[in-house]
Amino acid sequence: MKATAIAPSNLAFIKYWGKKKGHEEERLPVNGSISMNLSNLITTTTVEFSDDYGEDVILYNGEEPKQRSLQRVLKHLDRIRLLKKFQQRAQIVSKNNFPESTGLSSSASGFAALSLAASKAANLDLSEKDLSILARQGSGSACRSIPDGFVEWLNANTSDGSYAKSIFPHDYWNIVDIVVITGKEQKDTPTSEGMKRAYSSPFFKKRLQHIEARIIECKRYIKEKNFKFFGELIEKEALEMHTITLTSQPPIVYWHPGTLCVMRAVHLWRQEGLESYFTINTGHNIHVIVQEKDKEVLAKELSNLEEVNEVIINYPAQGAQLSEQHLF
Ligand code: PMV
Repeated sequence: MKATAIAPSNLAFIKYWGKKKGHEEERLPVNGSISMNLSNLITTTTVEFSDDYGEDVILYNGEEPKQRSLQRVLKHLDRIRLLKKFQQRAQIVSKNNFPESTGLSSSASGFAALSLAASKAANLDLSEKDLSILARQGSGSACRSIPDGFVEWLNANTSDGSYAKSIFPHDYWNIVDIVVITGKEQKDTPTSEGMKRAYSSPFFKKRLQHIEARIIECKRYIKEKNFKFFGELIEKEALEMHTITLTSQPPIVYWHPGTLCVMRAVHLWRQEGLESYFTINTGHNIHVIVQEKDKEVLAKELSNLEEVNEVIINYPAQGAQLSEQHLF
């Protein structure tokens, strides 16, 4: 059977940074996290299992994936084969509409789309929770691309408790995420490697002491649609995560000159009364959060910066969905 899924990337407002010791393989994070699905950063994936295939064949953006990604995808297919208790090999065709490994969470949309398409193609009828758990095993943040809109990934000590659920639907709050592309070069330290080093930062322990309270605060500001408090909190959170990477051993600097330029411009415009806040994942590209009313002015200002190649406007979006538009 063949199935196709479309999944959004998601933007973490409260970040997943670091795995619980002894639970690295299962990808159990040290803390819960909060995110929003992004309407215009999308992966589409078609999967077909069949006895006719002698081996798994995978095409990602028209090419065979690099060894590291390929191994992760094959491992994920094995998880699905184990659940279904069959041995059929698969053909997979997947495409992304945005650059990968540049801080835009392509593995989140990628593993969410793969989990939904492959589980359907295997005729498994998974609940949203089980799909989120499956996606998490492929790439942690992928579990947050399954449910609708604004999402919380629960903190848990067991695999069964570590999944994401919607806290507000996508049409609850019309904030806008302007994704700012400052370059297409791929990061040199993968997220999983960066996370291993988190414990070596002298500030990591401190972060874990207040992260629970910060999650509660973040949910409150979304609920109240308090843009100022929300924006200040997510910017503080992003800078804290990067403080951990900068002070890990060996240290990691994910920012490029263009990243800093956008950070400074956001602060300057804010002083002048044009309100926006940034957040950054593990890459040089940067997310600027604005209110709907300021979206056009800010997108134009950002596009005018010399260091900016492209901006992509995103609204809060639904989670992964099935589609009839197969890629093969
Ligand atoms: O799920 P991963 O391994 O791609 O890690 C995601 C890490 C961050 O993007 C930096 C933070 C997050 O919560 O998405």
